[in-house]
Parts: sequence; C-alpha cells; structure tokens
Amino acid sequence: MLDEYFIRESSEKDIKSIQNIYNQGIEDKIATLETEIKDYVYMEDWFKKHNGRYKVIVAEYKEQVVGWASLNQYNNRSAYDGVADLSVYISREFRGNGIGKMLLVELETIARKNGFHKMLLFTFPFNQLGQGLYKRMGFREVGVFKNQGILDGEFVDVMAMEKLL
Ligand SMILES: CC(C)(COP(=O)(O)OP(=O)(O)OC[C@H]1O[C@@H](n2cnc3c(N)ncnc32)[C@H](O)[C@@H]1OP(=O)(O)O)[C@@H](O)C(=O)NCCC(=O)NCCS
Repeated sequence: MLDEYFIRESSEKDIKSIQNIYNQGIEDKIATLETEIKDYVYMEDWFKKHNGRYKVIVAEYKEQVVGWASLNQYNNRSAYDGVADLSVYISREFRGNGIGKMLLVELETIARKNGFHKMLLFTFPFNQLGQGLYKRMGFREVGVFKNQGILDGEFVDVMAMEKLL
C-alpha cells in the first residue's frame, strides 16, 4: 500500500487540497489551537510565505493530495535561522497508514539540505497518532505547557518536542 503514495514538493495548484486537509485538522480539535476554519485567501497567503528554505511538501494517492507537511519559520531573529517549526496534516480517512512518517522523513531530508540544525513542534499530549509519529521519528519531549490554550471552553496542555539534525 505504501508504495502507492508519492511524496513531492507542492505547487500553487495544491493550495485548495492543503486548505481542506488543514481545516479537517482544525475541526477535529486534536491538532492545533487554531479554531477558525481557513479560507482560500488565507491559505494562499500562507503558501506564498513558504518560500526559499521553508518548503511545503504533499503526499499523493491516485493523483489526489492526501496529506502535507511544511517547514515553518520559528522566529524571525537571525539567531534562530537554524530552527524550523513543522506542521503535518493527513486527510481523515488516510491517517494511520504511514503517510505522516513518509512526509516527515522527506521533510527532515529537506531541512538538513536547507541548513536547519533543529526541527521542533508543538502538539497536544492527547494527540495519540501525533505522539506515535513524533516519537517514532526521534523527537524528544522538551516539556509540557500547562493550561496553554482554551479549546471548547476547557484548558488544554501543549507539549513542545524537538529533534536535533
Ligand atoms: C498526526 C498525523 C500527522 C500522523 O500521521 P499518520 O499518517 O496518521 O501517522 P503514521 O501512520 O505515519 O504513523 C506514524 C507512527 O505513529 C505510530 N502510530 C500509528 N498508529 C498509531 C496509533 N493508533 N496510536 C499510536 N501510535 C500510532 C506508529 O509508531 C507509526 O509508526 P510505525 O508504523 O512505523 O510504527 C495524522 O494522524 C494527522 O494528520 N492527524 C490530524 C492532524 C494532526 O494531528 N496533525 C499534527 C499536529 S501536531
């Protein structure tokens, strides 16, 4: 099955699929403290800001985009130039099939090539698939921010994780 998935760099024609998959992650409330569904204009702006070293890649299955991952700017101070924040989102019905891992393996290769020495991310401790994926990929738990955000009127903790490249 895994050999039916194809990882490639994204292009503008993927923005709609990236938007749809991101919005599923927002709706599911297991991935992000972002609570507002994103429209095309927002996603296009986000996409255009991902240039140079900050790549967006997608996973395709039968010519359909079923997941994406990105290297995001962590902080615009030059001292942080070697640190990339990452995002990874898989379409609901394709989660748990190894696509997240394929995307992160490729993203790590790109991060090394583009001169990053560290990838980091922020995740919910209760996001089981996310936790499984990041541990499998060699990310280390940095720590947990207690009551870091509010989702549906309830405090949620946020875990910081990192991997030195
Ligand atoms: C989190 C997410 C990106 C993971 O991607 P995925 O394609 O579903 O994950 P994978 O199938 O590649 O699994 C990777 C690893 O997680 C672990 N894993 C798989 N299924 C699991 C499960 N049910 N429970 C716990 N761990 C699991 C395994 O260790 C697996 O590696 P292995 O198969 O080599 O052992 C994806 O589920 C997703 O998009 N979820 C919603 C959005 C989201 O949470 N994004 C992350 C924001 S921080």
